Amino acid sequence: MPQLLTRRHLLRTGAAAAAATAVAPRRRAAAENPLRPVAVASGNGLAAVKEAVARMLAGVSPVAAAVAGVALVEADPEDVTVGYGGLPNEDGVVQLDAAVMDGSTMRAGAVAALERIKHPAQVALKVMQHTTRVLLVGEGALRFARAHGFPEENLLTERARKIWLHWKNTASPDDDWLELPEDSDDPDIQWFEKRFGRRLARPTGTIHLSACGGDGSLGCCTTTSGLAFKLPGRVGDSPLVGAGLYCDGEVGSAGATGHGESCMLTAGAHTVVEFMRQGASPQEACLETCRRIVRNTRLDYLKDAQGRPRNNVTLYAVNRAGEVGSAALLSGAHFAVCRAGEEPRLESSAYLFART
Ligand code: GLY
Repeated sequence: MPQLLTRRHLLRTGAAAAAATAVAPRRRAAAENPLRPVAVASGNGLAAVKEAVARMLAGVSPVAAAVAGVALVEADPEDVTVGYGGLPNEDGVVQLDAAVMDGSTMRAGAVAALERIKHPAQVALKVMQHTTRVLLVGEGALRFARAHGFPEENLLTERARKIWLHWKNTASPDDDWLELPEDSDDPDIQWFEKRFGRRLARPTGTIHLSACGGDGSLGCCTTTSGLAFKLPGRVGDSPLVGAGLYCDGEVGSAGATGHGESCMLTAGAHTVVEFMRQGASPQEACLETCRRIVRNTRLDYLKDAQGRPRNNVTLYAVNRAGEVGSAALLSGAHFAVCRAGEEPRLESSAYLFART
């Protein structure tokens, strides 16, 4: 059963437990139970959370550990929603978005619509470390990456190219592109349809990873190839501080995957961190933010026949006591978690609505 956060409960854990009184017991608990590094990520981040925890144990900061963790997924062509092998835009061009945030310095770095660079999260980390700015886009981001020695590569795998072409061929019966039966028999198309549904879906996959070090320091990273077949130049929530990720060293860290526009219009990750600041647990904070997204989903084309949001968003969070949580609008989402000394595992995210 989903664990729902009632307003009364939030008031009890939030407003009534004002910051000073809420934080003090947590500090005491942390002193009695010394923190172990912990990482939480989207469901595609099982290997990433393990890597991030290993890096933190080796002395790497949470933000750099998060970037090292997600690099495994950025390099993996089997994940068609992130980095190399990510699905391209409407024109068949892979454009990547990524951002990092460090809770200790309250600094961030981000890149958007970056082409030909396999590890956009590493470029985002360089933006944070080497500039006084936060977000670089398109050609400027590519030039910055080149200047820092990142190699340029073709990121469009054969599988991603075939899926994109099939989407073009089947998008409309009235355009110039013919739907050929042999396309549907292609093993790559069948692989995609098995994973994402019979009617060609437009995945918004993404990986978010939030990390908490043994000293309670926090950092996070989100990286994505964005909405499949997006309008060229479209940027989602992932590289936007406050939307696809947010981290406050005094409170916690959070991030999102899924329908970027829904998350942007609610400042999703920042909202999660603000609920945690008021005393909500990470899961409660994610659920309450999901409710906010539902309230902000007003236009009919965004809703299904029952008036629920058509698109899913999943949120992930860790607080500075090392507690983790996740929640989604729709059932079926998972999150990855790893604590030092334990194997990484997948857990079910809480949710508001059962998928029909
Ligand atoms: N959440 C990823 C995107 O919408 O681009």
